[in-house]
Amino acid sequence: MAVQISPSILAADFARLADEAAAVPNADWLHVDVMDYHFVPNLTLGLPVVEALRKATATPLDCHLMIADPDRWAPQYAEAGAGSVTIHAEAAKAPVRTLREIRAQGARAGLALNPATAVEPYEDLLPELDMLLLMTVEPGFGGQKFLDMVLPKVRRTRELVRRHGGRIWVQVDGGVDAETIGRCAEAGADVFVAGSAVYGASDPGAAIDELRAAATR
Ligand code: DX5
Ligand code: ZN
Repeated sequence: MAVQISPSILAADFARLADEAAAVPNADWLHVDVMDYHFVPNLTLGLPVVEALRKATATPLDCHLMIADPDRWAPQYAEAGAGSVTIHAEAAKAPVRTLREIRAQGARAGLALNPATAVEPYEDLLPELDMLLLMTVEPGFGGQKFLDMVLPKVRRTRELVRRHGGRIWVQVDGGVDAETIGRCAEAGADVFVAGSAVYGASDPGAAIDELRAAATR
């Protein structure tokens, strides 16, 4: 399982997004948190910013849609050039169709689960998925405290994915830092989103190297 780090630009300076993307040349992905004031009590950015970012960096975009109507909007993020588009299980009404539309645009398709959402009901969806995102905080804001209660679900998800051939990535998002990342990796996560731990550091690139080392230990 190769470790991948996806720094969240939610913690970056929105007035200097191109520079902030350039500050993490060693990132595997750039995690883009799309929030709509409906699914979560916060508002961030949408398609025009994703289109602009796509041109400003060669790093693939990992779009995490925390929006109320992902069935309507998700395929457009894939069309805008996102390398990965993740929709929330709690919001999608037609996940099979939406995940297929994301893949049809050439992007990886992800399904996100809030801390209290179980993974087991989604087992039949695994063939439609390239990634499962397990929220390790309630979605909506950066800088929250990591929820240890999600670790057993990370373990169960890794086991489920293993039984289905091991192709699907397991991403954790929220409160991931040099201290919590080891427990996530040990439980079976292989893609790590980190906002404050990367962009809150004086050297974001070095922070990524540290996270990668801590996940591999
Ligand atoms: C929270 C977002 C996260 C957030 C993580 O709703 O989905 O991606 O940016 O930020 P940190 O790493 O600071 O918890
Ligand atoms: Zn996110």
